[in-house]
Amino acid sequence: MDLNNIEDIARYIVKAGKGILAADESNPTCGKRFDSIGVESTEQNRRDYREMLFRSQGMRGNIGGVILFDETIRQEAEDGTSLVKIISDQGALPGIKVDQGLKPIGDSEESITQGLDGLDARLKEYYSLGAKFTKWRAVIKIGNSMPSDDAIQSNMVALADYAKVVQENHMVPMVEPEVLMDGTHSIQECFDATSRCLNTLFAALDERRVNIKGTILKPNMVTSGSEVAHKADKNEVAKQTIKCLKENVPSDLPGITFLSGGQSDLDSTAHLDAMNKIGGFSWKLSFSYGRALQQPALKAWMGKKENASLAQEALSHRALMNKLAAEGSWSSSLEN
Ligand code: 13P
Repeated sequence: MDLNNIEDIARYIVKAGKGILAADESNPTCGKRFDSIGVESTEQNRRDYREMLFRSQGMRGNIGGVILFDETIRQEAEDGTSLVKIISDQGALPGIKVDQGLKPIGDSEESITQGLDGLDARLKEYYSLGAKFTKWRAVIKIGNSMPSDDAIQSNMVALADYAKVVQENHMVPMVEPEVLMDGTHSIQECFDATSRCLNTLFAALDERRVNIKGTILKPNMVTSGSEVAHKADKNEVAKQTIKCLKENVPSDLPGITFLSGGQSDLDSTAHLDAMNKIGGFSWKLSFSYGRALQQPALKAWMGKKENASLAQEALSHRALMNKLAAEGSWSSSLEN
């Protein structure tokens, strides 16, 4: 695939219902996922697991991009093929997480994402390793007077500064302002916090003349807090999320690919499908799921080579279900 223009790259990733497999867990996060199945998080185990995912049949036609972690973009498969080539051979574009995690803002509970220092040099190397797009995640919390204006402003400005440097390096920036689900907040509070973030983010991108047609947004859906007993239902989540996006996101953005953020795999698919069934927006609404795509595959794998094909079937199934949801043609009966 010889895609060099950032607008073509962004459109390619979300074409025809395709979405993104987020496989960019840092080593500590990957360690937590592996702990849940009793597998040691060694470099080789992480390689074997990801190689298995990337070779799944259901990558083809359903996955347009894969987000990698620094270790993975440099790794080779057991037979010596680079993991980047395996991804490309499946028709997906390799992407890379380029932020360097979170730092607390003063002694508050809020954080600012790190990674602008030395970013240009890191991007040049990732480009030479085959990356076509990049990701930067900002984290925003709800509760105890949060989010503060300061946390929103500083994080959205950092996202816009990052996006500018990425485009100067000929890659597509994926901008991820994640409003966390954690807490007892209402769907309205999530709507308000998400709205403030998106509004500030697109003003900052505009100020820096970031090319919106060569950018992908990775937002949270607008949902009730994860600790709320009676949560807003699927149709309410779909309606509020579309309303929030329509009020804040320019219509020439090619793709919006949601994070799953702790939603179950089925909820993530059902919510995406409900939005696409409502329709009436110009962007492609698709997925960039980590846990919601990988969880069933991880459980099927359990670190054992002999489980590889079951695990690959599990990933392939979720990839297909989410592609159908991105086209608004999923139904729960297809899950059996
Ligand atoms: P989840 O879908 O598991 O939230 O992961 C997506 C991601 O890349 C978070 O940055």
